[in-house]
Amino acid sequence: MCGIVGAIARRNVSKILIEGLSRLEYRGYDSSGVAINNEEGVYSHRAVGKVQALKDKFEVQPLDGKMGIAHTRWATHGKPTEANAHPHFSGDDLALVHNGIIENHEPLRRELKDKGYEFKSETDTEVIVHLIHDAMKTQPDLLKAVQVTLTKLHGAFAIGVVQKDDNDRFIAARKGSPLVVGVGIEENFVASDQLALLHVTDQFIFLEEGDVVEVSRDGVSIYDAKGDLQERPISVFNHNIDATDKGEFRHYMMKEIYEQPKVISACLEGRISESKVLTSCFGADSAFLKEVENVHIVACGTSYHAGMVAKYWIEDLAGIPCSVEVASEYRYRKVAVPKKTLFLTLSQSGETADTLAALRMAKELGYLTTLAICNVPSSTLVRESALTLLTNAGPEIGVASTKAFTTQLTALLITSVAIAVENGLSAEKEKALVQALRSLPAHVNDALLQDAHIKEVADRFANKHNALFLGRGTMYPIALEGSLKLKEISYIHAEAYPAGELKHGPLALVDEDMPIIALVPHNDMLDKLKSNLQEVAARGGELYVFADKDTDLNNEENIIFTEVPKVDSILEPIVHTIPLQLLSYHVAVVKGTDVDQPRNLAKSVTVE
Ligand code: F6R
Repeated sequence: MCGIVGAIARRNVSKILIEGLSRLEYRGYDSSGVAINNEEGVYSHRAVGKVQALKDKFEVQPLDGKMGIAHTRWATHGKPTEANAHPHFSGDDLALVHNGIIENHEPLRRELKDKGYEFKSETDTEVIVHLIHDAMKTQPDLLKAVQVTLTKLHGAFAIGVVQKDDNDRFIAARKGSPLVVGVGIEENFVASDQLALLHVTDQFIFLEEGDVVEVSRDGVSIYDAKGDLQERPISVFNHNIDATDKGEFRHYMMKEIYEQPKVISACLEGRISESKVLTSCFGADSAFLKEVENVHIVACGTSYHAGMVAKYWIEDLAGIPCSVEVASEYRYRKVAVPKKTLFLTLSQSGETADTLAALRMAKELGYLTTLAICNVPSSTLVRESALTLLTNAGPEIGVASTKAFTTQLTALLITSVAIAVENGLSAEKEKALVQALRSLPAHVNDALLQDAHIKEVADRFANKHNALFLGRGTMYPIALEGSLKLKEISYIHAEAYPAGELKHGPLALVDEDMPIIALVPHNDMLDKLKSNLQEVAARGGELYVFADKDTDLNNEENIIFTEVPKVDSILEPIVHTIPLQLLSYHVAVVKGTDVDQPRNLAKSVTVE
């Protein structure tokens, strides 16, 4: 979604800002812009499409200055045009960039029009810059005018504002959308995401909800929502900077698929011993494990699919009820919360607007406690949850989630076992599960060995317009995840069904043009799934079967077989995910789509 970068330095900041925007490209956007302050005024370039289009404008007409703000826009109000791209101006005095949505922009726009303000865009953003301009008529100090303006805005936002003739500070603020301050030496920055600033600093201050910050060369002053000056701690970014580099891979997605054995090991590190789950991984307050009698899992998209797998694990291993719901539904209904229920959120980014809103609502509903399984330690979700289990996958740049998903599953399996231990799981069974977890990185590595074969399989998909994924038990959410991955990056329409549902409707779709992707686990569902496959074969459907050798399935007429390593059944959903990621990736490459930044999608969905 939209990304913000701001900089003030003793050197020209235009290259810093543009590099920052390039680093934010992974979030998804459709236009970009920069405003630069110098002695003559505030000047800007805006462009539709990739950041490269903005760079081209700088080539033709450089803009130099020691302070500026920049933006990548993901259109919400108004099409992706140059006029709608940020920064937006009020006259030539103020320029502003904004991430988020101003829900009451319509009445505000009417009020401002009545006062004589002219609007040049269709965006909700433009009201903010005019409101600040209007506030400055009675309150000439930019900081104070921003503080007054923020009280009038409903919705979620992060902003950056510069003023003509004030080249020594800019103002930024956040409420509901992420914003981080980057601390340098005689230069300071803001951005939506630390990754945007790793070329200039590794020291960051995470702003809290409602914070307004005055950023100058010599320091930053942070005011909370009440207007009181606050000290916020500085954190040092400790990921290897190479994490944001594609290395030998053509796409981030492929790099991230291949990182999975390593990051799953990182996720297990310090969380299990030879035979036990180490409950200290939930922090000092792991007492909830003894008390929990129900679990509510809430998440969006791929993270929701991870939650669906966990439902099977928690009910099977711990024998306690678990429900899973997408956050955008949960947050708008009346939820009945049984006593001693754990509220568990899953999120790669920790900034997903619906998941955050669900957490805030849940905090009022009397849950036992809130636990976030998240990949970003500094995220809002982590900061607002009582307990956290980090997935430790490292930055994920490809929009389609891969390593974040398998590490979520790993963290969920650890959590499920920990809850189960307090609900009567035997020491012997715990040890067996922990040993299965210890073997997981090696099995994921083995699954990656099918890459070349899957690339050949993918060629057969190039002309397909639809696909149907089937699975039973924990393979059903994996089928959903496989179909989501395929549609996200190859734009092939794909659906997933529990295989037992086939004859209740989707069988009508099956003909020789419809590829059926069947995930065949080696467990007591095997024979039932084989009968479902017979039903497909009998109708001429082309079957793509992912199974281990011992299932006795193989390449035969109408079956394209891909071998998946034979593993303990508890690990099957994780290991079966790998070939589906590879399949989607190779199909997208064959189709020539933008694998890392698929159309219309954003990495961090910070608006509703
Ligand atoms: C799909 C994907 C999305 C996210 C969803 C939630 O590949 O990544 O479906 O899973 O937008 O995002 P997080 O996990 O950051 O809350």
